[in-house]
Amino acid sequence: VASRLVDRARALIEASPGDSRAYHLVIASLRTDPSLVNAYAALADLLDARGADPYPVLRRVWHEHGSGDMEALRFVDQYARGDPANRLLEWCERGPRRPALIVRVAGDLEFLDLYDYDGVRGRKPAFVGRVHQPRLVCSPRDFGALPTTKQAIAEDLVKRGKDFRIVAHHDTTVELADRAVFGPAIDSVHFNAVLHRTLYRSRVVEQAARIVEIGVGSGFLFCSLIQALRQRPLEVVGSDVQASALATTRRNVNQTLARIPSAEQVHVRLEQCANLLERLPAGGIDLLLSNPPYIPERRPSGGTAYSGTAVVESLIARHAPRVLARGGVAVLLYSSLAAAAVQRSLEQSPLTPVVLGPSRRVPLDLREVSSDPAWIEMLLQHHGLEQTLDDPAHAYWHTLHVIALCRPEDEDLVVELGATLH
Ligand SMILES: C[S@@+](CC[C@H](N)C(=O)[O-])C[C@H]1O[C@@H](n2cnc3c(N)ncnc32)[C@H](O)[C@@H]1O
Repeated sequence: VASRLVDRARALIEASPGDSRAYHLVIASLRTDPSLVNAYAALADLLDARGADPYPVLRRVWHEHGSGDMEALRFVDQYARGDPANRLLEWCERGPRRPALIVRVAGDLEFLDLYDYDGVRGRKPAFVGRVHQPRLVCSPRDFGALPTTKQAIAEDLVKRGKDFRIVAHHDTTVELADRAVFGPAIDSVHFNAVLHRTLYRSRVVEQAARIVEIGVGSGFLFCSLIQALRQRPLEVVGSDVQASALATTRRNVNQTLARIPSAEQVHVRLEQCANLLERLPAGGIDLLLSNPPYIPERRPSGGTAYSGTAVVESLIARHAPRVLARGGVAVLLYSSLAAAAVQRSLEQSPLTPVVLGPSRRVPLDLREVSSDPAWIEMLLQHHGLEQTLDDPAHAYWHTLHVIALCRPEDEDLVVELGATLH
């Protein structure tokens, strides 16, 4: 009922923003469901259309009709910095103007907000709904808790998002127009959340100048690094085996650099290759980042863009110990599926691992990678893939871990990074 009332309010706002019935419909919807953040989003649009600052009114309405709902208050409070949809519009206006699904993910992944952008100049993205505690970045299976009148829209949007999607998390926004490119998925966003809680608060960000990422995908983490470290001259090198990933990263880097004042100090190089680390000079890297392929393969084949553990193994045991400079750090995300391979490589590596946490248990959509039943059986039997019958939406689960690797002589750095956890 509440969500139908909001839809009626929205229709009135579109037709005639001066009509006071829209306001009353929003209030009526909040009386029915005070946690329906769509009501606040509609009210904000109403005030915006009338040229008023939404925030003070949203605050007052929350006090009077919000029934103390704290999630709704968090939603309202983001308007203190202006309408988030307008900030997204800034991004949309600079990129290719075409319809897009926009996903704005909260800092520690407590929720994600979905927006529908129609690609029309000057028209801000429309708020679709908030998904609390998402298990993946953009899975229709997580959308059961959206307002009922929005679920079909959200599912359509996800289909459209396969062609064009914009993902925003912390200060980083990237766009993705190529299905073959590894977009910001739950592991990328979890990795970024951990970087913000740990590495970006450590002295590494004040000192690192020579930075490398192996396997840039959409460029999401690459752009996050550029933004976090942008205050001084930087040499940032990224590699991927896929040409399409590098093209996507290049577009996102250009958009990111266009938004930072110190862009001319940031020197970016992107290389299509599988062995960048072998070619880098010894002791020349301050920060090495990677979210490499992590699903063990059934038969050793050297790995594909997404599966195989060879990249992470050689990085830990051979390359990072050679290329890291004094005070340098390698930061990696790996899955519990690759835990044995990572453990073996750590035993062969002189570097000291520091857990950057917390870990995150997430679903694994194996159909996206392979449908070979023997392979799934191998992952279940030998690599700790979890299967659950409790959750009809997601059958397979694994756990994501982030670790930093430091040179053993950098004991103070090990202590400092370890302390960021607490
Ligand atoms: C799990 S995705 C991570 C993408 C991106 N960094 C993110 O977190 O969203 C792994 C990426 O590594 C790339 N890749 C696989 N093997 C590689 C190699 N040997 N060197 C460089 N990139 C590689 C894949 O093409 C893919 O884009």
